[in-house]
Amino acid sequence: MTVAAESFARAAQDWHLKPLYHDLGIAKGSELTETEKKYLRGLLCGYSPSEIAQQCYVGADTVRQCLSKSVYRVIENLIANQLHEQASQAAQVKDWRWVPRLLEQAGYRVQELAQTGDAGQTLSRNSVASLPQGHESWDSQPDISVFYNRTSELALLKQWALTDSCRTIVLYGLGGVGKTALAAKLVYEIKEEFECLVWRSLRNQPDIQALLTNILEFLNCLPSNSSQLTSSGLVSHLIQYLQVHRCLLVFDDVQAILSGGELSGKYQEGFEGYGELLRRLEEEPHQSCIILTSWEKLREASRISGPDMPVRSYRVEGLGDESKSILTHEKLSDENCWDELISAYSGNPLALRIIAATIHELFDGSVAEFLSQNTLFLGDFKYLLHQQFKRLSPMEQEVIMVISQHNASITLSDIFESITTEIRKSELMAVVNSLSRRSLLEQAKRDNVTVYSLQPTVEKYVKYHSRQ
Ligand SMILES: Nc1ncnc2c1ncn2[C@@H]1O[C@H](COP(=O)(O)OP(=O)(O)OP(=O)(O)O)[C@@H](O)[C@H]1O
Ligand SMILES: [Mg+2]
Repeated sequence: MTVAAESFARAAQDWHLKPLYHDLGIAKGSELTETEKKYLRGLLCGYSPSEIAQQCYVGADTVRQCLSKSVYRVIENLIANQLHEQASQAAQVKDWRWVPRLLEQAGYRVQELAQTGDAGQTLSRNSVASLPQGHESWDSQPDISVFYNRTSELALLKQWALTDSCRTIVLYGLGGVGKTALAAKLVYEIKEEFECLVWRSLRNQPDIQALLTNILEFLNCLPSNSSQLTSSGLVSHLIQYLQVHRCLLVFDDVQAILSGGELSGKYQEGFEGYGELLRRLEEEPHQSCIILTSWEKLREASRISGPDMPVRSYRVEGLGDESKSILTHEKLSDENCWDELISAYSGNPLALRIIAATIHELFDGSVAEFLSQNTLFLGDFKYLLHQQFKRLSPMEQEVIMVISQHNASITLSDIFESITTEIRKSELMAVVNSLSRRSLLEQAKRDNVTVYSLQPTVEKYVKYHSRQ
């Protein structure tokens, strides 16, 4: 992020700063200081106090203190003056996200927004200010009536979404591991903290223009000339809305618009617009939160993601010991063998549900009898693995085959020596990295050296089914 000559100068494009400073001066009883003006402009650009602190090279506490002791109180006085009420009875600035919203309602936002990506497009004042009917829009509603634990994951993700104000959270992991269910559970637990919620699945590869039009329509901010706008222009309108309103947006099954046959992270032909949408939602300041689920860690997310960044990725793993609740729910017997069953299927809830049905059909629910067959049965889970395997590049397929044929976990150098195709080590590293981003590799340390392996179900699929 760059620091402009006058910090957060972009606020002047979208806000009537002069009258705002003037009126705030009256509400304060003296002119705002340059620092107060600067932090206020930062908020109006959609930055959080910690992002403002980063850009101004000061501590986050310094910014927070200045805002809460002075700027927020002055804004409350201003609103109270307008409403002819006591400050304590008028709107209160509960946190930084309220500032653009309240000042917009007070009439300080410029109605004709410049630089929307499509010159001259306008967003009417009413359309920005008004909230969608019902406040929630789901195109598909995952059933989470039976949902076990994931307590620590939920606590962490809640912290990312609410306390850390992350702009984008990517939940990635193998098919069936529970990404959609986890996202839905998280959404139910945090949606009250947001003004509205939009859930869209990309599984059927919706056209980006249609998707954005549909979302803007729901948000009541579709510009009248939307049919003439490019998808970039529609993205600009969406981001402007998300700067003023704190919304929760979920895009489920993002892998559907990513391409196969090459290394991970590229968009399918015709779906590059999604790349721009997701990149801009990550990079441009706004006060909303976007949750993405995908088989693959997204390339955009990895550029500016990290523990202190507003974009974070979380690899969703199997349920582990918590899977026992699924086996209880499925009424399987031989509880003493459940650990073995869970580890064979890496706690993948979908795989366990599929296998539970087979255990009932063939062995009357006896896990011991099923395990005594000494074979890892994949059943319909095979088809899900097939979907993931067919996305791999030829080199990824060869590498995963080499790993599957090795009985124990394997180092990068071992893979390099076992591979028959001529490849430079740096290329091999890119291939292994891509497989890992697709959640297909397990990584561990052996004698301080990184070793790679496959989950048992993936290994079985690669060995016996991938060539069918
Ligand atoms: N915590 C959980 N408790 C109980 N069941 C769960 C849990 N998580 C997932 N499941 C069940 O496991 C199945 C797969 O879950 P889900 O659809 O969320 O996986 P996914 O990772 O989104 O899969 P895909 O990659 O195919 O979209 C569903 O039937 C879901 O209800
Ligand atoms: Mg899913």
